[in-house]
Amino acid sequence: VERLLADLGRLCRARLIGPCASVSLLGRNIRAILHRLGDALELFEEQKIYLVSQAANDLNFTFVIDEKQGERLVQQLHDLLIRAAANDPVMGPTWEQLYAPVQAGAGPVPRWWRAKRDVLLRMAREHEAAYIYDGETIERRVAELRRMQSVDRVLYSVKANPHAGILQRVFSGGIGLECVSRGELEHVISCLRGIGREQILFTPNFAPRHEYEFALQQGVWVTLDNIHPLREWSELFKDREVFVRVDTGHGRGHHDHVRTAGVRTKFGVPLFELDELARLAQASKVKIVGLHAHTGSGIFNARNWTETADILTGLRQRFPDVRVVDVGGGLGIPERPGQLALDLPALDAALAQVRQQHPGVEIWLEPGRYIVAEAGVLLAQVTQLKGKGDVRYVGVATGMNSLIRPALYGAHHEIVNLTRIDEPASVMVDIVGPICESADQLGNDRLLPPTREGDVLLIANTGAYGHAMSSNYNLRAPAPEFLI
Ligand code: LLP
Repeated sequence: VERLLADLGRLCRARLIGPCASVSLLGRNIRAILHRLGDALELFEEQKIYLVSQAANDLNFTFVIDEKQGERLVQQLHDLLIRAAANDPVMGPTWEQLYAPVQAGAGPVPRWWRAKRDVLLRMAREHEAAYIYDGETIERRVAELRRMQSVDRVLYSVKANPHAGILQRVFSGGIGLECVSRGELEHVISCLRGIGREQILFTPNFAPRHEYEFALQQGVWVTLDNIHPLREWSELFKDREVFVRVDTGHGRGHHDHVRTAGVRTKFGVPLFELDELARLAQASKVKIVGLHAHTGSGIFNARNWTETADILTGLRQRFPDVRVVDVGGGLGIPERPGQLALDLPALDAALAQVRQQHPGVEIWLEPGRYIVAEAGVLLAQVTQLKGKGDVRYVGVATGMNSLIRPALYGAHHEIVNLTRIDEPASVMVDIVGPICESADQLGNDRLLPPTREGDVLLIANTGAYGHAMSSNYNLRAPAPEFLI
């Protein structure tokens, strides 16, 4: 090393760093997991990564870091990649899964669609593609959330799935509604006749002035996520009680597109603007009664919501009228087989502690996905089969026009051949739709039983952000929806 340093010293300034550790991830197609490493690498916001290298054969990915950080990184990576893939055929179940007692309410929802397979197959015969929502699964999730002792009010985030029947089930289960546009407000008000307007929270982002006017006329709770409305349209808000969405600075979630806090995102009033916000509110006689933050979507760590609650409750000194702290939504659901579910009782217990420290403050939670994702499946008939190179394609009657999540986020949805559910899954295929884009893929490298034209594939966990984000692209109507 000394001689190397001397040699290099003739060409540049060479310095020896260390002690270092090198941590390598090994596996086929390792690049495909890079987007999942975000949480593990958060540690390195303050610590250095000296070197990152990726083998050209895409088999290994290596970090060189300070030796004393090595163990922590390995642990984080294990938590993220290995625990999360518990029933993976290579890794097998985790120690916790084998030996830890199962906590009530913490496990994944049993697969309702297996029990209701005959009904689904009948429906799939009449429609070449269809979204089916299971009312009982929604009710189960609603009841689970309502059992949380620490949460004073649960609001359903309508954007996840605005189906009228779902809104009615959720609302009759005792849950309020969170809306982000005039369209959602009007839809909720027309679907839920007689709904108390205090049950609705409006949380728009960069919406035009007339949407705030409409919301205020309706008497729903209005959230400001920027100081612009107070600075420019203060007369609208004079003598009103409002909520303010705060950017707590830390975004989390399953993909960059859904992380909604931090400087690179457009949401919320940043902490450094809060003094100005307080001044503007005082000048226009606006009472800030609620503080709100939503850091992202698809999160499994209870700390996300307790940290948010800590930050928001910590701001009460500056905003003494605050009586509600809304910690947002974002509750993740397991997507890959064996992935551990969010531990809702643990989240409840952690939030209860915050509440104990801050008597007189209500805690609100606004999940979307958690309530509807697992209740929905997309059924699609197989149209054509193809083999090209070493890839086999199974084509189905709908694609990214019905479900854009795989194309947009690389999201994983379990896919089974419902017609042949008990046959061994022995063929590796890509499942694609009929849309003219290479991104029109619903799943890659999936094992299915040998599949034929006319079989029905089931794409699971599509109740949230499925139909809600669909389009008529290629003038192909998205799959119709049915609530059973
Ligand atoms: N509250 C606010 C202010 C939100 O912006 C959102 C979601 C929620 C609550 C509900 O989040 P959830 O509990 O559903 O995670 N299209 C993406 C998700 C986008 C979420 C946008 N905001 C996806 O398919 O994963």
